[in-house]
Amino acid sequence: MRKTYIAGNWKMNKTKSEAVELAKSLVVALKDGKYKYMIAPSFTNLDAVGQIINGSNIILGAQNMSTDESGAHTGEVSVLMLKDLGVKTVILGHSERRHIYGEDDLMINKKVKLALKHGLEVILCIGELIEEREAGKAEIVCEQQTRDGLSGVSEEELKNVTIAYEPVWAIGTGKTATPEDAQAIHEYIRKIISNMYSADAAEKILIQYGGSMNAGNAEALLAQKDIDGGLIGGASLSVEKFEPICKVK
Ligand code: PGA
Repeated sequence: MRKTYIAGNWKMNKTKSEAVELAKSLVVALKDGKYKYMIAPSFTNLDAVGQIINGSNIILGAQNMSTDESGAHTGEVSVLMLKDLGVKTVILGHSERRHIYGEDDLMINKKVKLALKHGLEVILCIGELIEEREAGKAEIVCEQQTRDGLSGVSEEELKNVTIAYEPVWAIGTGKTATPEDAQAIHEYIRKIISNMYSADAAEKILIQYGGSMNAGNAEALLAQKDIDGGLIGGASLSVEKFEPICKVK
C-alpha cells in the first residue's frame, strides 16, 4: 500500500514573514493529517520555514538546486547548502525550469543523481506540452523524460524518488487533466518503471499528479489507482486551500 504524498510548491511567492506565518498555520492544521506532507518555499525562506516545521509532520523541500556541489556558479544554490538548512527533498525538472529556464533532461539527470548521492529525496517532474498531447505524444514525452531523468539511478536510490506527472498545459491554468487521462499516464509511467527496474519498484514508487489541483478535484484524482498524491502550486499558498487537499479521503 503506497502512502499518499501531498506537496506544496510555493514557487516565487511569499516574503519571509508571510512564509513563516503560513508554515506556522500549516503545522497546526496538518498535525493530525495522515498523509506525507512537504512544503517547498523559496531558497531565501528555507531557513526560517525549516525552523518552524522542524519536529512536525511536514518535511522541508527546495524547488531546485545546482548541478554542481560548489564552485563558480553565480546565482546557484548547492545540495550541500540545502542539506545544511535541513532540506529533505528537492523538486527537480519542474516544467517552469524546463520551459522558462531551458533545463534539459541531461541537466536534470545530473541534479537527480547529485541529490540522491547526498541522501536527499527527489521529486522528478515530467509532463507534456499541449501540442505534444494534441499530437498523441503525451506518453512518449513522459517516457523519455522519465528514462532520461532516472538514467544511472539504481533501484536502491529509486526508493528516494517520487515522480510528479504535471501536464504543462494544466499548470497554473485552471485546466486539470481528467482523472481518467491522468490515471492513464500514471499507469504508463508505472509500466516504464517496471521495465527499467522491477515490478516491485513500480509497485512502490509514488507518482503524484500536479496541475491546477485543488480542493474540488483532488478527491477524484486521488481516487485513481495509480495517483499517489499531488504537487500543488497555487492552492498551496493558503491554509484554506491547502488543508482540504491534505485531508482528502
Ligand atoms: P498549480 O502548479 O497547482 O498552480 O497548477 C502545480 C505545479 O507547478 O507544481
